[in-house]
Amino acid sequence: MLERHVLDSTPGVRWADVAGLGEAKQVLDETVVLPLMMPEYFQGIRRLWKTVLMFGPPGTGKTLLAKAVATECGTTFFNVSPATLASKRCDEGERVVVRCLFNLARAYAPSTIFIDEIDSLCTSRGASGEHESSRRVKSELLVQIDGINNSSTTEDGQPKHVAILAATNTPWDIDEELRWRLEKHIYIPLPDFQSRKELIKINLRNVQIAADVKIDEVAWRTDGYSAHDLTNVCRDASMEGLRRKIAGKTRDEIKNMAKDEIEKEPVTMRDFAEALGNVQKSVSPADIEKHNKWMAEFGSA
Ligand SMILES: Nc1ncnc2c1ncn2[C@@H]1O[C@H](COP(=O)(O)OP(=O)(O)O)[C@@H](O)[C@H]1O
Ligand SMILES: [Mg+2]
Repeated sequence: MLERHVLDSTPGVRWADVAGLGEAKQVLDETVVLPLMMPEYFQGIRRLWKTVLMFGPPGTGKTLLAKAVATECGTTFFNVSPATLASKRCDEGERVVVRCLFNLARAYAPSTIFIDEIDSLCTSRGASGEHESSRRVKSELLVQIDGINNSSTTEDGQPKHVAILAATNTPWDIDEELRWRLEKHIYIPLPDFQSRKELIKINLRNVQIAADVKIDEVAWRTDGYSAHDLTNVCRDASMEGLRRKIAGKTRDEIKNMAKDEIEKEPVTMRDFAEALGNVQKSVSPADIEKHNKWMAEFGSA
């Protein structure tokens, strides 16, 4: 059941699809790939982190980065949701499910276990039964993470590298024990000006752009937008051309329009202005403030 559920087969997100976040990419690469390339070197004091927590506001690319790790790093990738871990489908209970997952990961090593929205393991929302079950999942998870953090080599002397990657939008919901065991905490912030420019270019890769489009200006005007918000702006803007083309036409007329006639309609600056009016920023300054505070207290340099 687990094998079917968690062995990831998502089609390739590449590093280049993720705008900005250079430092995060580097840490992830170091965590997952370097130890495989030079296993002898990274022993003892040089031991690299094996467990990383990504935190930041929603829509900044945490899940996307994990998918890029799956493609770029060439390790077996287990994509786990807390709901899978708390699965009742296994008679012996949730603890066995967690243990099973880690055994699988070791069997398929080198591998990466990605636990998205890990905060949901720690909050008490939902029925009391649900809470009880996530408590059991959590305590087994702690045991298993300890095992990963402390393991060095196997019987045959070959390190079996298993890295753990977790993500959350609400790091303050993660309890102390779990926080402490995830060795490296990296902040995935809202995109800065440069990253927004990069993101707009990525999003418009396959779209015709009119000469009047000023990417700098769009980037300038989307301060405070998450990468997801800005992606929506680009999507909306690139849809405007189509809307213009089909306005007032009947279904049949639309069907008979030549495909390239629609595709050649470039996105204009007016389309962006329109889209900026349609798509608002989704992250509040108060939320950013909370992340900054958590970063100052518990983030890794
Ligand atoms: N840094 C980024 N670069 C490119 N696209 C991004 C980035 N961050 C978010 N996106 C876009 O927003 C969508 C949602 O991002 P996601 O990774 O799920 O956010 P998070 O997990 O941080 O809440 C992605 O599928 C992608 O289209
Ligand atoms: Mg996510």
